[in-house]
Amino acid sequence: MELLRSGQLVGIPTETVYGLAANGCDPKAVAGIFDLKDRPRFDPVILHFSEPERMEGFVKMDTEMAHSLFKTFSPGALTLLLPKTDKVPDIVTAGLPKVALRIPDHPMTLELLRNLPFPLAAPSANLFGRTSPTRPEHVTDQFGEDLKLVLDGGACTVGVESTILDISGPRPVILRQGGIPQEDLEAHLGYALESRSSSSQPEAPGMTHSHYSPGCPVVLMEGRAFPGEGYRSGDRVIRFKTLLEDVPKEAQIVLSTGGDVREAASQLFKALHDASHTDPRVIWAERAPNKGVGRAINDRLRRAARAQA
Ligand code: TXA
Ligand code: MG
Repeated sequence: MELLRSGQLVGIPTETVYGLAANGCDPKAVAGIFDLKDRPRFDPVILHFSEPERMEGFVKMDTEMAHSLFKTFSPGALTLLLPKTDKVPDIVTAGLPKVALRIPDHPMTLELLRNLPFPLAAPSANLFGRTSPTRPEHVTDQFGEDLKLVLDGGACTVGVESTILDISGPRPVILRQGGIPQEDLEAHLGYALESRSSSSQPEAPGMTHSHYSPGCPVVLMEGRAFPGEGYRSGDRVIRFKTLLEDVPKEAQIVLSTGGDVREAASQLFKALHDASHTDPRVIWAERAPNKGVGRAINDRLRRAARAQA
């Protein structure tokens, strides 16, 4: 807590992924996040709060929709985008007029947020463009001595980042698929949502880039078919539900033997981290069924596959 009060960075657990946190009201502290992550300044960060009441003064809203969404889905893996006030430093939103807000569902971090007089700005605690961390050791592996403290809150239960919903316009739009399924938001709102997360002109600036690279090439596969030249000895394979018979068992990681997309999401980034440890030529990854959190899994796999290793 003292580190955060004095403008330094701390690794924090959330239910989605670990965050690299700093005082969200202190532009210098937030600049430290960009420096340590090697993240371009045009990519804004999310502000984390312990409860909606604390957001007062940071946003020009107070709409019924924001209240009812936070009431239903928070604490949880939903980030809302709303028009910001001057209280939010420009570096947090990269100069954009909207700010991203979220209430993470992790007891340790909620307690921390309750005891701090400011919200925490926090992107995922990985170097820019790399796989997000879902365990404390993923954070320490990437930053080592450069990060003084990582709070150990165990393995992240959701395992993919929050769903980002822009509710500042006439109709809400999903800017990133994530831990709260599109279907759940649609059921709550009572209408179908547009998802711009895979469009070529996304509004979330970070979305234009290839992301989530485990440090070696990732190639997507549908079902059992290896595209192109196919599997070679030494390659690693991430499977959604079933092992492949013609590939050594040790070379494969199954995300959910029961075929549950939630379980698979919670294992996804660990699987990418683990598969990359032997520095393979290729990681082959099978797509998940495109429903519920499976949409977020497929979004992350697509981006990992697009990333330059
Ligand atoms: O689950 C999560 O959301 C995690 C945990 C730590 O809370 N955080 C996270 O942050 O994933 P980050 O920075 O890795 O991804 C946030 C995404 C970025 O793609 C960024 O461009 C977008 O949210 N974003 C943040 N603020 C925005 C804004 N004001 N306008 C548009 N996009 C924004
Ligand atoms: Mg990230």
